[in-house]
Amino acid sequence: MLRSIERALIDGLAGAVTEAGHDRTVDPSALELEDFDDDEKGEFSSAISFAIAADEGSNPMSVASSIADAHEAAGLPEGIGAVTVENGHINYHLDVETMARRTLSAIGDEAASYGAREHAAPETIIADVSSPNIAKPLHVGHLRNTILSDALMNVLEALGHDVARDNHLGDWGVQFGNLLHEYVEFGDEDAFEEDPIAHLLDLYQQFEQRDSMLEDVEAFEALTGSFEEAVAAERDHHTAAGKEWFARLEDGDEAAVERWERFREASIERFEAVYEELGVDFDLWIGESFYAREGWNDRIVDRALEEGVAMRAADGSAFIPIYPDEYEDAGDPERVDVDPSLARAREALDAAGNVEDADFDPFYIVKSDGSTVYGTRDLATIAYRIEEFDADRSVYVVASEQDHYFSQLFVAARKMGFTDLRLQHVNYGMISLPEGSMSTRGGQIVTVREVLDAARDRARDIVEEKGRGVDDDEVAVIARKIALATVKYGMVASNRGKDITFDIDEAVSLDGDTGPYVQYATTRAYSILDDAESVPEADAIDPGAFNDTDHRLIYHLGRYPLVLNLCEERYDAAPLARYLLDLAHVFNSFYHKNRVLDAESAAGERLALTAATAQVFENGLGLLGVDTLAEM
Ligand code: ARG
Repeated sequence: MLRSIERALIDGLAGAVTEAGHDRTVDPSALELEDFDDDEKGEFSSAISFAIAADEGSNPMSVASSIADAHEAAGLPEGIGAVTVENGHINYHLDVETMARRTLSAIGDEAASYGAREHAAPETIIADVSSPNIAKPLHVGHLRNTILSDALMNVLEALGHDVARDNHLGDWGVQFGNLLHEYVEFGDEDAFEEDPIAHLLDLYQQFEQRDSMLEDVEAFEALTGSFEEAVAAERDHHTAAGKEWFARLEDGDEAAVERWERFREASIERFEAVYEELGVDFDLWIGESFYAREGWNDRIVDRALEEGVAMRAADGSAFIPIYPDEYEDAGDPERVDVDPSLARAREALDAAGNVEDADFDPFYIVKSDGSTVYGTRDLATIAYRIEEFDADRSVYVVASEQDHYFSQLFVAARKMGFTDLRLQHVNYGMISLPEGSMSTRGGQIVTVREVLDAARDRARDIVEEKGRGVDDDEVAVIARKIALATVKYGMVASNRGKDITFDIDEAVSLDGDTGPYVQYATTRAYSILDDAESVPEADAIDPGAFNDTDHRLIYHLGRYPLVLNLCEERYDAAPLARYLLDLAHVFNSFYHKNRVLDAESAAGERLALTAATAQVFENGLGLLGVDTLAEM
């Protein structure tokens, strides 16, 4: 209902602006949705008069009046009762009865699909979600990624887009050559069988630590003669062996591939157990290795060199130069302006004498030893998504740490002529846990497993404390659902760009801005409905019976579809998470003020309103991947 009112208002406003003799285009941002808490302001408000007055050199108050008069004369859309002008703002007030009737019947009719719709311009979207590196445990960063991306993709699907979630595994690169080398020299079959990821992580860290230690020793100036040589030789031995194994892997050498496959499979098995617990599914698992092994990498490199987009450096490496002015609007095919020719790079190179000092950034696609890199595989992925999926948009849910990398990638992709596909980096901030909140087995890394276990333990304490005599099995089921709500809300309730500190003790609480708080409000709605003898249908009620508190709740229910739009606009699930928190607050005050069941009047109306609220909680929490609970 609000969605159609909003559209009609924007059209009407545009007409009124012209009618009143002003010259200005009106787009959706001209209209703002207000909170339903201030009668004077109205529920929709426009500040367009200020912009017009600034252009015309006139007075915003009189501009606002002229537009409001013209709009009223042309007729306000159904559902809007009045338009007023205040301090230069044009305020539209809902006709609350129409609003109540239409909102409740929309929720009643559409039920589980209330809020969902067909999109006017649906896109085929392929999104990189989760995308961890194999041979390492999933850590809290992956938790934020996985939960955010799953919720966001659910919303995009509900809004009519065709979405494929791709778990773009990091399963290729010289680090796996290093790991193969380390495993062959120091690996332990039993330790691997026992806990493959832990063992591989140990080996990986051993390699890295040895390398940096030897590097430090090498840099020590007092080193002399044979000792210096021995250190260098030791370091070279490991580095060369790692490279050698990666080369063997890239060449398809059986011994290398067979071991690497074991690492990969064991990792995937462990990852899947976690995803299952989180209730998250993927449509595709196309790791980086696919592009290397199926020839996509080679084709990208050939193409970039043949088309003269990439150049070879003296050491045999190849890169696509990115000029400093090219970073803007890189993801938007219609706006980006790039110079694919190499002329500028050659000049810059002549002037500087070497790649490092030249006035461009090299986006490497081949290293001096001939191996490909992360960026090569991302370009190959783009080619693949265009050719095999005819995708409209390629989305990357990846931490902000890779912001710079992605802007380079996007410019490189444009230079290669991949202009039909929108490229979008959905970045998110860091996540940390407060000091001492959890003891971690692994030392520095906080794993997803540890977080989930801790959340479940705390949730169980809460359920047991309430002690309503439910049996142990039930306690376990409820605790698991509360734990998931805790973690999921903790990951998405803040705007994705923000760094967050996840405090489990706060996040599990039933009264804070938490997932369990929203779950609890829903459970309360269920129990009211359970205790009622019958709940009337939306069309059978009298919309004139509602008071202000009821109207406020109805207005919030009506806003839900607009909140989903906001999520799409921002490519974030936070607006939805916060909306549900607001709804829980509004519903709780409705419940306390109106005492639904023993209300003297409008009991049926309020039951219908409670049923509608429960439906919206279900729909919204469903998109966030949070289960509702009949009992808590
Ligand atoms: N595996 C990478 C990492 O853990 C993330 C991959 C993101 N997706 C991509 N197409 N680059 O850092």
